[in-house]
Amino acid sequence: MTDLTGRRALVTGGAQGIGRAIAERLIAAGARVAIADMNEEGAQATAKELGGDTVAIRCDVRSADDAKAAVAQAVEALGGIDVLVNNAGIEIAKPITELTDEEFMRCLDVNAGGTFRVTQAAIPALAASGSSAIVNLGSVAGMSGGPVLSAYCASKGAILRFTESAAIELRQAGITVNAVCPGIVATEMADRLVAPIEAVSPVPFETLINMRQGRSGRPEDVAGVVAFLASDEARFITGASYAIDGGLTASLF
Ligand SMILES: NC(=O)c1ccc[n+]([C@@H]2O[C@H](COP(=O)([O-])OP(=O)(O)OC[C@H]3O[C@@H](n4cnc5c(N)ncnc54)[C@H](O)[C@@H]3O)[C@@H](O)[C@H]2O)c1
Repeated sequence: MTDLTGRRALVTGGAQGIGRAIAERLIAAGARVAIADMNEEGAQATAKELGGDTVAIRCDVRSADDAKAAVAQAVEALGGIDVLVNNAGIEIAKPITELTDEEFMRCLDVNAGGTFRVTQAAIPALAASGSSAIVNLGSVAGMSGGPVLSAYCASKGAILRFTESAAIELRQAGITVNAVCPGIVATEMADRLVAPIEAVSPVPFETLINMRQGRSGRPEDVAGVVAFLASDEARFITGASYAIDGGLTASLF
């Protein structure tokens, strides 16, 4: 099992879903965790449920001030940061003909902009660690496009190119930067995608998932890979993106 004893981690969007599972997995591996989420109540409830000295921080990743304050609070509470997981994200699922300028930019702002802002704010603390890791939540939607998901795919594609750029810029500071690219994972976000995807799919959502992935992903499927990328075993991996998708991106049909 991956050992993260003594590691201090900041997980954005950790109040629920994949972020929560990541926080739980990092704690099980021995890390101490701060959860930063715009849903303050949810973050507090999750931190309490996860136990230990898990910290909850209110943070909207659309704000550079919030990102700086969240990093400062995590450093204060944990004594530093060795791991940053940029997980906070939103989906917008609409055809291009219906998508507003505000919606397109909001999707980029939260997903790609948030990843940039929290990364930038955390660099001094991560560099001070001497051996640290950033793991970004990409998506199979960042590896190829799809109907009704143009804004989301654009934002996740941006995260993958940002991941590669940051990996090279931060190598000398001892910071690895990688991305995980889940397929459809059973969370509230996936539930919200059912209706818009069924509107353009010839088969029901569940059939589509079973055909392309074998089954729905579970948040834990993603969390284990994140824990590995956050560990010393992954020190020579940087700038990489890992599909966690039951084979979706490996197959033509
Ligand atoms: N569920 C999937 O099928 C799937 C697939 C691939 C990638 N992802 C990615 O995984 C990540 C987590 O997704 P999820 O399925 O757990 O979604 P979710 O909607 O269940 O949870 C998202 C969390 O992010 C928080 N959040 C949203 N906007 C925020 C902001 N501006 N600032 C701070 N926190 C904010 C929410 O409050 C929530 O706690 C996202 O980046 C998503 O794009 C999800």
